[in-house]
Amino acid sequence: MMKKRYRAAALALVSLLLLGTMTGCGSSSSGGDKQIIRIGHNQSTNHPTHIALQAFEEFIESELGDKYDVEVFPSELLGSQNEMVQLTQTGAINFCVASNSLLETFSDNYTLFNLPYLFVSSEAYHASMDDENITGPIFESTKQAGFTAVTWLDAGTRNFYTVDKPIETVEDLKGLKIRVQQSPTNIEMMDRLGGSATPMGFGDVYTSLQANIIDGAENNELALTDNGHGDVCKYYSYSMHQMIPDILIGSNDFLDGLSDDERAIFEEGFELVNQVQREEWVKAVEESKDRAQNEQGVQFNYPDIEPFREACLPMHDDMLEKYPDLVPIYDAIQAYNEQYPADES
Ligand code: GCU
Repeated sequence: MMKKRYRAAALALVSLLLLGTMTGCGSSSSGGDKQIIRIGHNQSTNHPTHIALQAFEEFIESELGDKYDVEVFPSELLGSQNEMVQLTQTGAINFCVASNSLLETFSDNYTLFNLPYLFVSSEAYHASMDDENITGPIFESTKQAGFTAVTWLDAGTRNFYTVDKPIETVEDLKGLKIRVQQSPTNIEMMDRLGGSATPMGFGDVYTSLQANIIDGAENNELALTDNGHGDVCKYYSYSMHQMIPDILIGSNDFLDGLSDDERAIFEEGFELVNQVQREEWVKAVEESKDRAQNEQGVQFNYPDIEPFREACLPMHDDMLEKYPDLVPIYDAIQAYNEQYPADES
């Protein structure tokens, strides 16, 4: 309830801010004033993504501070991820961070990175995401929709976590209501694993767990600590079912308006976001695991993932049949999977 009221107030604030932009307040168009660059995301201010975007803010302002004023809005202040993507699409805000999951409803190409058990190791995942031959066709594919992906951010590995009992086998998911992100691939994954998929936005998960509307969710370790889910869910099971990147997307209206020199500086800034976020990510996961275990009393389990993988694997062929243009990209990912096989630790 509080949260809804808070969100409504925040959205009213956004409308005012945006109205200001449209009427020229704080925009460079009237000469002299700086143009405000608004970037929204749904994580807390401790999160690696926020830290990386602050580094971006500092960098852009040090290089182009006479022209641009970068403002980073954390914690869904500009709305849920879905809402922020729409605001970016129309150019009402300049950038936002969206989970790759959500982007599949804007372009089919994004379905690829949402496939369960696509990457066999985090090294294969990172190498694939760093390869422009793989990401290029996907990142460009929303051009018509009004936005473009400018870099990716690590969001680790997604695993199941539950309130009452650990998930040791696929059968343990049977009958459980598990929150998934709002994407057809995630709903199908849950169906194949026998659980009952409950799609909802990230900001609603904590209260839904508390109110027993759902029995569990799936996410990286930071959700336990940063979002407090580990206060309610005491079992975290490494099913390792997805490595879904977050994507920084920019509005085409804004990106297309940059001069070549400015664009080069922004590209450096995007690279910086990626680097800082990845460094911070490694530290943050370690800290989260430690806090979840020692302060929240979360138990970590390591089930045999093979039966989970087998249940989801038919989704790969189904997707390739449906979107044959993605076959070469899928094959390039498989080459990285061979180069960087799963580590047994
Ligand atoms: C992760 C991811 C977010 C996403 C969230 C979710 O935290 O980084 O981008 O919104 O999962 O499950 O919705």
